[in-house]
Amino acid sequence: MSPVEPDGVPPQAIRKLTPGKLVIASHNAGKVREINALLAEYGIEAISAADLDLPEPEETGTTFVANAELKALQAADLSGLPALADDSGLCVDALGGDPGVYTANWAETPNGRDWTLAMTKVEQALAEKGPDASRAAHFVSVLALAWPDGHVQWFEGRAEGTLTWPPRGDVGFGYDPVFVPLGNTQTYAEMDPAEKHAISHRAAAFAAMVDAVL
Ligand code: IMP
Repeated sequence: MSPVEPDGVPPQAIRKLTPGKLVIASHNAGKVREINALLAEYGIEAISAADLDLPEPEETGTTFVANAELKALQAADLSGLPALADDSGLCVDALGGDPGVYTANWAETPNGRDWTLAMTKVEQALAEKGPDASRAAHFVSVLALAWPDGHVQWFEGRAEGTLTWPPRGDVGFGYDPVFVPLGNTQTYAEMDPAEKHAISHRAAAFAAMVDAVL
């Protein structure tokens, strides 16, 4: 499904991305590493927002699109370069799509983000739904590509799967150790990164973006 548009916004003309610098509007080193790996072959020089000392905006949106857009627009505006942001999260069927847009918030502690805590919270919430609750879940990634003149376009990717417990594997980041993508037996965190990149929600969003703008 690409490009995606928020409800009620008319489709915009697709603008192409030319080789050169692109700001990756993220301070999440795991995401920046994955995005760099996915863009390397297109002559795009990815620079992270952290390297440019750009501030990290508050994610005040209630949708993945809104949050991706506000991050990309701010980075493009402050850097004067095209900027790419990803907003992503884990949506659990039996939890009505939670933690969804609030996936990172479930990891917050006074001392920073704790992913073991976040995975435990999801597991506890599922346990409260009873032994027959579905363990189906999907990751969503929305990419927003913005230019300094305010032009922005969006692309969405999904990865369907199930949640396993206890967590397995130590590659990757976030909720990787509990997510088993459809058709696999390994969690994202047990896979070789190249294998994850080939099937992940972010890879699907990238494929949609590459198809449209490169
Ligand atoms: P945000 O997009 O910065 O709001 O963060 C979304 C959160 O979703 C991340 O911090 C991760 O915890 C989680 N997440 C997104 N993509 C992945 C993934 O590929 N693996 C594991 N966790 C992910």
